[in-house]
Amino acid sequence: MFDVRPQTVTIGAEIHGIDLANVSNDEIAELKKLWLDWKVLFFRDQHITPEAHIAFARRFGDLEVHPFAPGDDTHPELVVIESNAENQYAASGWHSDVTWRQEPSLGSILRGVVIPPVGGDTSFADAGAAYDRLSDKWKDRLDGMVGIHDYVRVFGRGVSEDKREEMREKYPLAHHPVIRTHPETGAKTVYSNRAFMTGIEGVGDDEFAEISAHLERAIMNPSIQCRFRWQVDSFAMWDNRAVQHCASNDFFPETRRVVRATIIGDRPY
Ligand code: SIN
Repeated sequence: MFDVRPQTVTIGAEIHGIDLANVSNDEIAELKKLWLDWKVLFFRDQHITPEAHIAFARRFGDLEVHPFAPGDDTHPELVVIESNAENQYAASGWHSDVTWRQEPSLGSILRGVVIPPVGGDTSFADAGAAYDRLSDKWKDRLDGMVGIHDYVRVFGRGVSEDKREEMREKYPLAHHPVIRTHPETGAKTVYSNRAFMTGIEGVGDDEFAEISAHLERAIMNPSIQCRFRWQVDSFAMWDNRAVQHCASNDFFPETRRVVRATIIGDRPY
């Protein structure tokens, strides 16, 4: 149905022959299969409206409105991630989106709006392959471990203590397995990340630091990754249950603006 161009043998495929503003139900069904197989799909030259971006994302589930990240004024479902000479921010740590929620994201659909002439690529790691490559000893050790995820490390900076407490009531610490099971493929995937995971139940600080560093190294292995070079109106659509991602912080003082629709998922197990 589509022209599918794999980027590696396990993760990432560019999909050609599709108009994201006009996708039939059969095409959505095919995309769902491809998404499970390739974990992250890329599309080029999709000159569609923000409404069409939102409508496309809704075909895969309900969308969240992010309580902390700046939104597009007229489209609260779209998070705007902008970096420029004044605000040198990029999501440059390996993570899966919004793991601080009790029901974190199923998937994210990101559009390139302003792309620097060089740099600003996004890398994606196959979190299932990262798990598969762990030693049996590590797999046994991690079995049953539960990570504690907190929005504060990323979104609590510069926020007053009172406000932080108010937000804490709304967004209590989230407890998720360090190794989760993908609800559709059954794959086990590494679900720890340094952006939001601040501890592991019953584990002291030193051991937590050792475990999270080991898992981050597993994710950072280039042999399980693909890397996307953005163009204006490129889209990347990733499965947050199957991959971790990281933006490259290598384009300042140029501007980079990307806009994300985030599909709500279910409770990890
Ligand atoms: C994100 O973490 O959702 C954004 C990734 C990017 O800016 O490439």
